[in-house]
Amino acid sequence: PATVVVLASGTGSLLRSLLDATREPDYPARVVAVGTDRDCAATGHADDFAIASFRVALPEYDGRAEWDNALTEAVAAHQPDLVVSAGFMKILGPMFLEKFGGRIINTHPALLPAFPGAHGVRDALAYGVKVTGCTVHLVDAGVDTGPILAQEAVPVLPEDDEAALHERIKVVERRLLAEVVAAVAERGIVSDGRKAVIPVSEFSGE
Ligand code: GAR
Repeated sequence: PATVVVLASGTGSLLRSLLDATREPDYPARVVAVGTDRDCAATGHADDFAIASFRVALPEYDGRAEWDNALTEAVAAHQPDLVVSAGFMKILGPMFLEKFGGRIINTHPALLPAFPGAHGVRDALAYGVKVTGCTVHLVDAGVDTGPILAQEAVPVLPEDDEAALHERIKVVERRLLAEVVAAVAERGIVSDGRKAVIPVSEFSGE
């Protein structure tokens, strides 16, 4: 199976659902390590699955470049086929992109290119959209600008607050991320400039 390092900063519920997916013997990817940039619940999920974890915290480095270098080396030590950013709340640096570019997958709680950045749910709610969703995309040097692999819509309900809407999005996001990681692990990504696609399986109708 393809090897994956997951990066996370928060509750790690997306990480958890990916770990649950990998329990299925047929799932084509395995999480080999979990990286964080702070103390967070994601590490506990790694422990539960007896998976290695590491923390590379920006304040412990002299600057962004040193942090970027340390994170790149910590991830590279696990020689992953793919890197998944699942609620990792830091922008990845140029060294990291140079090393893993084209095989870093991020998930974002809005329908990009709408509402990029750290507050995708709050910004969509404040704008008053009636439909939002989640986006799984390749990471490039911009903030949530990389080629889109998959998206799914989620309705905004009149009584929603940020937490309620975010949880409705995450229910979809957990499934979509596990599906995309499996599809990329099996079939790879073909990209043509902005457009990135996962080739359809030879045995369509799967
Ligand atoms: C997810 O909704 C993810 O899309 C979002 O953080 C949440 C993590 O949830 N990421 C971003 O907003 C990145 N800009 P989790 O900690 O429960 O897995």
